[in-house]
Order: sequence, then structure tokens, then C-alpha cells
Amino acid sequence: MPGLRAKVMSTLAGQLGNPHGLLGKGVARILNRGNRPLIEAAAEAATGTVVADIGFGGGVGLELLLARSGTEVVHGVELSPDMLARARSTFARDLAAGRLRLSAGSLTALPFADDSLDAAITVNTIYFLSDLDAACAELARAVRTGGAVVIGIGDPDAMAAMPFTAYGFTLRPVAEVRAALERAGCTVTERQLPSRPIPTHLLVAVPG
Ligand SMILES: C[S@@+](CC[C@H](N)C(=O)[O-])C[C@H]1O[C@@H](n2cnc3c(N)ncnc32)[C@H](O)[C@@H]1O
Repeated sequence: MPGLRAKVMSTLAGQLGNPHGLLGKGVARILNRGNRPLIEAAAEAATGTVVADIGFGGGVGLELLLARSGTEVVHGVELSPDMLARARSTFARDLAAGRLRLSAGSLTALPFADDSLDAAITVNTIYFLSDLDAACAELARAVRTGGAVVIGIGDPDAMAAMPFTAYGFTLRPVAEVRAALERAGCTVTERQLPSRPIPTHLLVAVPG
């Protein structure tokens, strides 16, 4: 039933871009489990005391950043009200202690002053952006000179083979993501992680 399959794939894609409702609860758990290795690598690259996870989804990135010794404040920014509510409940103690600050926002309009972060991670989010240059400029603005903007993505060729990505994902070659970060004034290093079933790429960009 091609119509049904298209509907399922489009629903899944919509949930990945903005997890919500009952399905969103399951999606959050799947994201936390499936994306953990890439998020761990991103968090390791995001050194410093004031750090952020933008588009944290199920929240495992917040958990990893909070657990790190030396972290003073973790900021979480999300587009999805339901993922924000989930994080408020999961991390109630860290919120009350002021170690975690949560905000509604977007990669293209971050609720941060210039140079206010040591590092920011954003993993599996840029597929949902039409204007990558605007997001890279915004990340480079919020992260201090010498800090780290860390972008994690699935390999675009492997992602293109996943049927749900036909429904609204923008899959960019890694070189295109790197070029956008360089246009934002960053020096970029990249590495590939042999994750399964989708290999992943981590770009670490240092604002100059
Ligand atoms: C596929 S999930 C990835 C979640 C998590 N980072 C991970 O890797 O498991 C994408 C998340 O990015 C959020 N998102 C999408 N567009 C965004 C934007 N422009 N700014 C901030 N968050 C965004 C969605 O609400 C969703 O929670």
C-alpha cells in the first residue's frame, strides 16, 4: 500500500523534525538510544564550563554535558515544546540548582549574547534547516573565539537511502556543511564515526 507507506514515512520524518504528542515520547527514547554514540563524541569535543545543546530532542546530550566534571552551566535550546517539557521533568533537579537552563528557540535565532558560550553541540538537527549559513553564523556568534561549535550528522549518502528522509529532510554533503562553518569564520576539523546502520560525521568548528 504505497499511500500508507508514504504516510508512515512522512509522519516519522515530521516526528524527527519536531517530536510531539504520544508518538514523540517513543521517538525521544529511540533518539536517545540510537544517537548516543554520536552525541557522546560531540559532547567530548565541547569542552568548557558553559555549554549548550541545540535541538537536544530526547535529552541525552544534556545528560552527558551535565555529567561532565567541570561543567558549570548547560543550556538546552529546542523548537519542540514537548521535548522542552520532557527535559524540564527529567532534569528537574539540575534546573532547580541552576546548572541547566532551558529555552525555546531555533538554531537560526539563539537566545544567547555574543561570545557567551564555550561550546555548543547540535546533532542530527541541520537536516531541518533551509538556511544553514544563518545557523552557522548564529552558532559562531554565540560561541566565544577559540571555543567549539560541534555539528554531528549522519552520512548524507546513507541517510538518502533511508525512506523517511525523502519527506522534508535537507541532506547536504559534508563539504557543504564545512564550507558554511568556514564562511561563518571558523576553522573546521572533521572526522567520521563508523556508526551503524548510518555512519556519522562530526565537524568541530573553532570561531576565529
Ligand atoms: C532528529 S532530532 C535529534 C535530537 C538529538 N539531537 C539527537 O541527536 O538525538 C532533531 C531535534 O531538533 C529539533 N529541531 C529541529 N529544528 C530545529 C531548529 N531550527 N532549532 C532547534 N532545534 C530544532 C527538533 O525539535 C528535534 O528535537
